[in-house]
Amino acid sequence: MFIHTIKMGTEIDISKQEEEAAQHEIWKYVFGFTPMAVVKCAIELGIPNIIENHEAPITLAELASKLGCSMPLLHRIMRFLIHYKIFQEKPVSETCFGYTDKPVSETCVGYAHTPLSRLLTTHGKRSMASFVLLESSPVMLAPWHKLSARVLGTEDSAFGAAHGDEVWGFAAANPGHSKLIDDAMACDARVAVGAVIEGCPEVFEELRTVVDVGGGDGTALRLIVEACPWISGVNFDLPHVVSVAPACTGVEHVGGDMFDHVPKADAAYLMVSLFSLLEFSSFSNIRISF
Ligand SMILES: C[S@@+](CC[C@H](N)C(=O)[O-])C[C@H]1O[C@@H](n2cnc3c(N)ncnc32)[C@H](O)[C@@H]1O
Repeated sequence: MFIHTIKMGTEIDISKQEEEAAQHEIWKYVFGFTPMAVVKCAIELGIPNIIENHEAPITLAELASKLGCSMPLLHRIMRFLIHYKIFQEKPVSETCFGYTDKPVSETCVGYAHTPLSRLLTTHGKRSMASFVLLESSPVMLAPWHKLSARVLGTEDSAFGAAHGDEVWGFAAANPGHSKLIDDAMACDARVAVGAVIEGCPEVFEELRTVVDVGGGDGTALRLIVEACPWISGVNFDLPHVVSVAPACTGVEHVGGDMFDHVPKADAAYLMVSLFSLLEFSSFSNIRISF
């Protein structure tokens, strides 16, 4: 069966299946925000950490008791996270027979980690929890509401339109948000630098001094200096960032603006996402070619 749609003189044949698929697909866009919101909720409640510290899969009742919250509400959150394969359900033990007055699923089945939920604990080398908290924060979501204005050219930047300042100026004036950024960048640095040190150790052999341009809280350089103790590092970032960066043996924090100068060293690197690079190039005179 075909539905005929005529628009501006063009006839489009849409099968009933395609129409139904579209009606199904549209809900992804209506409620597309929910995975991020529910994962953020799980991190804020500390669910990944609780599961990490529980020696066996944790039942709904145990989890609700640790959080001091209602089981039915928590169940809805956990059901969503199980459906998205963020956590998994497992038997709590091989010999659990349950209580006669409760369903087996309540007493014998518990929540356990998956590789994905391990990334949501707030510690650990591969944790991405801080990145989720940054990108799901109201500050970072507000610019997305300015996207159409940005495309139409009525705004110079979506972030500026939402907050009246550019991202780094806003961070300088809002230490809480700046900390969210630093923590999120440190997540990324741990994964990326670990891979570079492991994959290309020869890069660091001849170097005695290295400067990380826009190095955030110095996590990347700390990892490099730990792995290559003959290197002295200079972590160069904006003054508001380095003023709160944790002290680290072998790494000197230096504040400044990279568009004015960059400290001298045997090697300098700038580790940012492609997206950030293009953003830099759009408001600076730097031309980036690939
Ligand atoms: C996207 S973050 C990258 C952080 C870190 N390099 C990483 O990849 O995890 C960009 C960093 O550049 C810093 N930054 C932005 N503008 C800067 C400037 N003009 N001079 C020095 N640092 C700057 C920010 O404060 C932030 O720490």
